[in-house]
Amino acid sequence: MIVTTEKLFEAAYGKYAIGAYNINNLEQTMGLFRGCIDSKAPFIIQISKGARSYTHKNMLEALIRAADEIFPEAVFAVHLDHGDEATCMDCIQSGFYSSVMIDASHEDFDKNIEITRRVVEAAHARGIVVEAELGQLGGVEEHVQVSEADAHLTDPETAKEFVERSGCDSLAVAIGTSHGAYKFSGSQALRFDILSEIQKKLPGFPLVMHGSSSVPQEEVERINAAGGQLKGAKGVDATQFRRAAELGVTKINIDTDGRLVWTRVHREFFKEHPENFDLRPPGKEFMAAYAKFIAEKNDYLGSAGELDAVWKLIKG
Ligand code: 13P
Repeated sequence: MIVTTEKLFEAAYGKYAIGAYNINNLEQTMGLFRGCIDSKAPFIIQISKGARSYTHKNMLEALIRAADEIFPEAVFAVHLDHGDEATCMDCIQSGFYSSVMIDASHEDFDKNIEITRRVVEAAHARGIVVEAELGQLGGVEEHVQVSEADAHLTDPETAKEFVERSGCDSLAVAIGTSHGAYKFSGSQALRFDILSEIQKKLPGFPLVMHGSSSVPQEEVERINAAGGQLKGAKGVDATQFRRAAELGVTKINIDTDGRLVWTRVHREFFKEHPENFDLRPPGKEFMAAYAKFIAEKNDYLGSAGELDAVWKLIKG
């Protein structure tokens, strides 16, 4: 069942975080639903601008509707990840998305508010919720590329004003993570002090952590052993998710780790079966591996086992 993130955040706030997973194709869609049902977790499907245009913007919509029929017990939001204003408006008008992210974080404070406000007005008129971003993460996420020099952490002093003036429903904050597989050159440094300050200014307000892939070293080593060349890749320690949740983070975004699973499965499969040219055997392996990966993430997030409680909340 498709819901807005509002109900999910209400259930999760202060206790656990909902996993927000990017999908691009059939195999990821099936693996995601299977993993969330196996672990009994509510979840958020993230669709980026690039994912919408990978085949056709209607294709993922059709896949998700089919998955919703195949897994009627699933509860999830459908969310546009890192939208510009035009893409947000298109998703709002489509009637399919229950949540959009407007990312105007590269603009100055007032311009960010002005753009976010326009999207909020259009979205709320149709019962859709809006995530906005204040501060800027470094790294690469499709069309969003931010150098370390341009990245800056969220200023807790301005967060409240931003939320009040923009009317957004949740806020993505920059607290030291970055997009992609190369997050930290030394040891990781999540700024829980800043997160705690933001929570004090915005008690009860849902916060979002982008750039939260863990980039497991075992996965990187297996990819490299099967011909990959990922050097110095590093991510966020997943055992920190619960602490972030206690400080008001209700949505944690994970994309890169899913791509690593895809890369590992396919590299190893074709290395071990060089004579093979069938797409279904590695596809099946990937769906099972992706489902397992999702269930494990949901355990770290604390969302595993929460599905029944969310159903109760929705049914009132
Ligand atoms: P990762 O690159 O760490 O998976 O982050 C994804 C993300 O934040 C999508 O918005």
